[in-house]
Amino acid sequence: MKRIFSGVQPTGNLHLGNYLGAIRNFVPLQDDYDCIYCVVDMHAITVWQDPKVLKANTREVAAAYLAAGIDPKRCIIFNQSQVAAHAELAWIFNCVARLGWLNRMTQFKEKAGKHRENASVGLYAYPNLMAADILAYKATHVPVGEDQKQHLELTRDIAQKFNSDFKVDFFPLLEPLILGTATRVMSLRDGTKKMSKSDPSDYSRITMTDDADAIAKKIRKATSDPDLLPGREVLDGTGAVPEAARQARPEAYNLLAIYAALADKPMADVMDEFAGAQFSHFKAVLTDLAVAALGPIGAEMKHLSDDPGAVDAVLHDGAERARAIAEPILAEVYDIVGFLRP
Ligand code: TYM
Repeated sequence: MKRIFSGVQPTGNLHLGNYLGAIRNFVPLQDDYDCIYCVVDMHAITVWQDPKVLKANTREVAAAYLAAGIDPKRCIIFNQSQVAAHAELAWIFNCVARLGWLNRMTQFKEKAGKHRENASVGLYAYPNLMAADILAYKATHVPVGEDQKQHLELTRDIAQKFNSDFKVDFFPLLEPLILGTATRVMSLRDGTKKMSKSDPSDYSRITMTDDADAIAKKIRKATSDPDLLPGREVLDGTGAVPEAARQARPEAYNLLAIYAALADKPMADVMDEFAGAQFSHFKAVLTDLAVAALGPIGAEMKHLSDDPGAVDAVLHDGAERARAIAEPILAEVYDIVGFLRP
């Protein structure tokens, strides 16, 4: 059976990267797969979270799922901490994964920065919990943005090592689904940096709840370069932007990729449309497109924030259905590992 699992951290400032790289892609998958979409609050606390704000942010991610068009009847929407199997399986994976594997994780290095000794143990073991999220449901496909690719490879390694250590064919080896033209949305201020929730500058990202004025202002102020927009002749044979071209004009290609994703068009078509255009003209059209795409979602998220009880009911119901899948899988894992449960 094909099963999707994915998650988003409730750490505030949900942005266009989260939307185009992940949440938007979750929606059509519900037609073909059995889908589980999680708000990963246990991952969030690997760095400090104010408890009150964490609760609000958890509801905000759930609201984003719902507003984007994920149907809570067809899919499971819940927050991670409500299903104990995630933490329980993560402990087992702490004993399967090797220190050397975790030492290679680039996201830990980026997040811990120079203060590695001061990072939480949870931040270091983050990828093991992520593997537990996915494998507690034996998920086979995981839609994410490009930055999560390394974590998914580690999940495959953990599944493989578990299967081989215990001589079982128990966990499936997942396939990452890195979909669309905006798999790595960059900061609006600096096209060499990923758009992120934690960037101190609000102008670096468009958030999912920004109104039309905020979107227009952020796109107008977005860093650009003095040249006119490039045409499709720069693309390589596969229709992708060559690395050297991207490095020469990171902001231009980032804005073009955002446009392509929002318009649901290939990069080449978008470049045909804007080849030789000035940034000012392109930015005005991009603003209209972004407002049309995000406006209704942001409005629905605000509407849902007025009714936290309705969102909590979705999470409660989702958690119950999630437990019904994860608990029997965890019971089998415990048996395989040799835990006695008289
Ligand atoms: P988080 O909350 O950091 O990101 C949520 C999703 O958004 C994608 N993303 C981006 N995509 C394109 N451009 C960007 N600038 C950008 N920034 C973020 C991420 O790739 C992700 O898909 N570790 C995960 C959460 C997680 C998870 C899981 C995901 C926990 N358990 C199990 C899949 C399966 C994360 O980074 O969340």
